[in-house]
Amino acid sequence: MKPSFAIVGCGKVGSALARFLTAAGYRAAGLASKSLSSAQRVAEMIGTKRFSRVNWEVTKSADIVFITTPDGAIGEACRQIAGNNGLRERSIVLHCSGSLSSEILFPAKECGASIGSMHPLQSFVSVEIGSNPFQGIIISVEGEPQAVDAARKIAADLGATFMEIKTEAKTLYHASAVVASNYLVTLLDLAFRLIEPAGVSKTDALKLLKPLIGGTLSNIEKVGIPEALTGPIERGDAEVLERHMAEIASKVPELMTIYKALSLYTIGVARKKGTLSESRAQMLKGVLGK
Ligand SMILES: NC(=O)c1ccc[n+]([C@@H]2O[C@H](COP(=O)([O-])OP(=O)(O)OC[C@H]3O[C@@H](n4cnc5c(N)ncnc54)[C@H](OP(=O)(O)O)[C@@H]3O)[C@@H](O)[C@H]2O)c1
Repeated sequence: MKPSFAIVGCGKVGSALARFLTAAGYRAAGLASKSLSSAQRVAEMIGTKRFSRVNWEVTKSADIVFITTPDGAIGEACRQIAGNNGLRERSIVLHCSGSLSSEILFPAKECGASIGSMHPLQSFVSVEIGSNPFQGIIISVEGEPQAVDAARKIAADLGATFMEIKTEAKTLYHASAVVASNYLVTLLDLAFRLIEPAGVSKTDALKLLKPLIGGTLSNIEKVGIPEALTGPIERGDAEVLERHMAEIASKVPELMTIYKALSLYTIGVARKKGTLSESRAQMLKGVLGK
């Protein structure tokens, strides 16, 4: 028989977990949320009458407790549950934050629970659920052995791939996800602004640059980094860099700092590829004022 679960925080992630854990045969011990209406909505969705505004009422009988409140409320919610005898013996307590480690669940550990974090690498945009958002994604997990074991089974039952990470590496792991996802948006905003003076609108810019972006991603998949790097820095072409910088200085000077920072980082990538000699690298750094 699959374990029972409680959800504390019936928002986007909590709703999806409730729905697809139930579909996978896990039994709902109860659902709690700050607003009763949120808990009730999820309870109706999965067909249970066990919902409450009081977190520790629903966690008491659960084998696995998911604290899926916003990150800032996880610690306090856990303290309250632990302080009100809201955990059964040898229960598992997990949260789903990407940036926080399991250590924030320490009050539950003091009550004898096994603690862990289970971060789905997915963007959940609504409490309205269509297809299974866990299907085929990575769920990264860290924490105590029993919690990690439980999360491994949950990931498999949700159709996701399990990946274990070190507790002390959690913050940098999350920084990596932010760079790969959020800063990709930032990088393309920068590209769009540089192409705008050429009379290309944002909509056209995406159409224009998309094949280039797709090709680069595909090259990274095929040959990896640094081999996928091309362009003036990889070729050691100082003149091109100088021309870029002169135009940026005259047309969009506010973008110079980020252009230089990205160029400097790229010199390091080109050195790793081996196509850029040390003397050429120094020349490019000189152009960048470093
Ligand atoms: N959204 C994503 O794309 C995503 C992806 C990966 C991981 N995560 C992580 O998943 C967790 C939940 O994120 P989310 O996006 O699902 O947030 P959300 O949609 O804002 O849901 C959070 C829910 O918790 C309830 N809540 C707030 N404080 C509470 C408390 N003290 N006790 C009980 N319930 C409380 C909220 O209030 P009401 O009861 O008023 O509705 C809301 O329903 C976070 O740790 C987040 O970092 C999110």
